[in-house]
Amino acid sequence: MDRHNRTRTSEWQALRQHAKKNAKLHLSDLFAADPERGRRFSVTAEGIHLDYSKHPVTSETMELLFRLARACGLESEIDRMFGAEKINETENRPVLHWALRDFSGKAVRVDGADVSPAIRQVRERMTAAAEKIRSSRWLSPGGRPLTHIVNLGIGGSDLGPQMACQALRFYSRRDLHFYFVSNLDPTHLAETLRPLSPENTLFVIASKTFTTQETMANAAGARSWLLEHSVPQAALSGHFAAATANPQAALAFGVAPENIFEFWEWVGGRYSLASAVGLPVMMAIGPERFTEMLRGYWNMDNHFRSSPWQTNLPVLLALLGIWQVNFHDAHTHAVFPYDQYLRRFPAFLQQLEMESNGKCVDRAGRATRYSTGPVLWGEPGTNGQHAFFQMLHQGTQAVPCDFIGFCRSLNPYKDHHEQMLANMFAQSRALAFGRSRAGLAGEGIPETLLPFREFPGNRPSNTILAEELTPEVLGKLIALYEHKVFVQGVLWNIFSFDQWGVELGKSLAKKILPRLAGNAETAPDEDSSTRELITYCRCRRRQ
Ligand code: F6P
Repeated sequence: MDRHNRTRTSEWQALRQHAKKNAKLHLSDLFAADPERGRRFSVTAEGIHLDYSKHPVTSETMELLFRLARACGLESEIDRMFGAEKINETENRPVLHWALRDFSGKAVRVDGADVSPAIRQVRERMTAAAEKIRSSRWLSPGGRPLTHIVNLGIGGSDLGPQMACQALRFYSRRDLHFYFVSNLDPTHLAETLRPLSPENTLFVIASKTFTTQETMANAAGARSWLLEHSVPQAALSGHFAAATANPQAALAFGVAPENIFEFWEWVGGRYSLASAVGLPVMMAIGPERFTEMLRGYWNMDNHFRSSPWQTNLPVLLALLGIWQVNFHDAHTHAVFPYDQYLRRFPAFLQQLEMESNGKCVDRAGRATRYSTGPVLWGEPGTNGQHAFFQMLHQGTQAVPCDFIGFCRSLNPYKDHHEQMLANMFAQSRALAFGRSRAGLAGEGIPETLLPFREFPGNRPSNTILAEELTPEVLGKLIALYEHKVFVQGVLWNIFSFDQWGVELGKSLAKKILPRLAGNAETAPDEDSSTRELITYCRCRRRQ
């Protein structure tokens, strides 16, 4: 049996047969047949409640999915990741983001050396730095407290800390101000810096490699801005800190050694929030709350490692995703946080899921013969309801959705929250059960309008609920999705921890840059579209 090609396994075939047999099953039928379905297809663990009853699954479906996971070696793959094996094979690295939040006190060995002391040491240095900022003792060379912190980073070095700073704003110091500049477009840096003043501004350069074009350009731009605002050359380093796995490059840029916070090759960029990349978050919410977030991650890590799959939240989310992508042809997956603080959570998950599992080659280097990671997208509820939910309810594609909400709001105007929760529950209900013509006719809707007012229903969703948004809950939610991605990578037999797909565009941009400036001739391999675009821009600029 060729286990690399998942579609050839008997477990995959059994799921295919099962999906075919049940193709006509409607969620309304499933609910009608089992009055306890809402309870039976829900799991609460680690304070997170997952209701997956509005997926077209039966106990048999779940059993078949668990069998597939077993056949794909999920158990041993989990052991391999937490055993610090080099599972990121194409980069020859272990995958140890979990070690950043491991409070067990056990050694985590990479090439024989325990990495835990270094993790603790950096966290202690981050703690001291965060406390210095929060107590107004971190002064600029001009003697003013640094109160405006500008994170310069992109991808995982931006989305994670930005998302978490927004998510945990309720717990943040209000006299400290955080900004995130990622885009290479000079507008991002210029508009961010326009109202700021160098005397109280600290730049945190977040870059694992410290070579990323966007971040290096923005760091250079920040340095020019300081110089233009009369900060003496000798005082520049007083305005910079860095989170990086390349401390030598940070030193060469001019960051003082005591302000360089290291992380390591074995942390993927999109998994790096719990590392030094989380420095702005720690500054915002304080070291204690940051630790609470890490404990949340850790609790979810332990849940993932030790819970039976039937009640294992990341495993369930992953398998339901596989069921949708591979057996119901779902090409996209939407995430709707019904919480304004989580407004960047979908963007964060977009990188996590799509950079990890957007792969078309399996671990043996062969084309996969099945779909892998879907397009992930989303917006905060209830905004989406008034924009694109029309398509979710009556469009031609069924889009599996995750609704994420909290039982209690952190803010006043409690009746708003009540209305919002009601909307969240209503949306998943409408998606699942729709509205039939028969029901509409009873409401006196004219015959001619019936086709337009009908809702087909049978559109799948998960609902994820927690009591309230705390740092600990945020850590759990992030780890939940991280491990979901891991499980799916195992089942799809792809490498989830590399990202070679981002390389080609980067190297082509290097070739195009001198062409745009007029310093290079058309290369023989330049396509005519690119050539014409360059010519068009150059002509317009001259005019
Ligand atoms: O190009 C993609 C990527 O490597 C992401 O994986 C990463 O999060 C981002 O760029 C930023 O990389 P760095 O932290 O090295 O600047």
